Amino acid sequence: MSKKPTELEEDEVETTGHSWDGIEEYNNPLPRWWLWTLYATIIWAIGYTIAYPAWPMLTQATPGVLGWSTRGDVAAEIKAVDVANAEIESKLAAADLTTISADADMNSYANNAGKAVFQTWCIQCHQTGGQGAKGYPNLLDDDWLWGGDIESIHTTIKHGVRNEDDDDARFSEMPKFGADELLEAAEIDQVVNFVLKISGQEADAALVTDGAVVFEDNCASCHAEDGKGDRDQGAPNLTDAIWLYGGDEATIRDSVNNARFGVMPTWAARLSESDINAVATYVHQLGGGE
Ligand code: HEC
Ligand code: HEC
Repeated sequence: MSKKPTELEEDEVETTGHSWDGIEEYNNPLPRWWLWTLYATIIWAIGYTIAYPAWPMLTQATPGVLGWSTRGDVAAEIKAVDVANAEIESKLAAADLTTISADADMNSYANNAGKAVFQTWCIQCHQTGGQGAKGYPNLLDDDWLWGGDIESIHTTIKHGVRNEDDDDARFSEMPKFGADELLEAAEIDQVVNFVLKISGQEADAALVTDGAVVFEDNCASCHAEDGKGDRDQGAPNLTDAIWLYGGDEATIRDSVNNARFGVMPTWAARLSESDINAVATYVHQLGGGE
């Protein structure tokens, strides 16, 4: 019966013949199966590095004879999706905006694509849910600066607001009543109190009456006689509790003194026609669309 090497007596074990200070080395060869597996993996590795990108060079790795790349894989997947969506994309690009919501397939496609566009291009300013921030309007409510029907929303998005890159951008400019000394400090006090009053806040009654006159003469041309604003000029409604910049006395005073001039870029240059239609549909259906 053969014994395992550990069971052999010391002098029965084959040694390699090496000897250091009388210490000898046993000759226990690697198991065959292990060795063959090692050779097989070496051969596989050589084949792999020839076929696929492998060895790092100065600027990039060796490309491999098969020409495969992760980037190529992604590009192929994107292309496949583009081909699959080509038909509905061109239908969406050509669609009459008001009919999109009536076509269930197109509507759901537009909302999904629009959401993706929104999450990529719009949330920096309008926030993830479209709720906005100081100076960036909330797109969820039914309070619109420039109009809340689908056509108006589409125009605002396509051309932007007060930017210099698009001749069709929406434009208006509130004067800097304080900074440019168009009104006296006393008149600004009066009109600020008038705005507080019409927005249902506490105001100094002694100033409100004169403030009404200042408002009529200087503000009504944009914000309307009743203070409810004018969408043709993007002038906000000053009588409600919704504020673009803020409704407390200090912020209203700042708005009147220095004006605002909020800018939104044009999207015609960056987004395709179908993407603009999609994101307009998405915004229209966020909650406040008319
Ligand atoms: C760089 C900041 C910025 C980005 C990015 C931006 N917007 Fe705006 N957006 C604004 C500002 C500022 C206004 C308000 C301008 C004003 O004062 O009239 C506005 C206004 C709007 C309005 C008009 C709201 C109303 O009440 O009439 C819509 C609709 C709108 N944006 C949609 C979008 C969409 C869709 C995108 C993405 C494709 C987008 N915005 C990206 C800054 C931005
Ligand atoms: C030429 C048109 C124009 C005139 C005149 C004008 N405004 Fe404005 N006003 C605007 C526009 C447009 C905005 C929107 C803000 C922006 O420019 O981004 C605005 C914004 C405001 C805001 C900020 C509202 C908010 O929601 O935060 C206040 C307050 C305001 N105006 C008060 C006045 C008062 C008071 C006067 C008169 C003394 C006046 N405006 C005259 C066009 C005008």
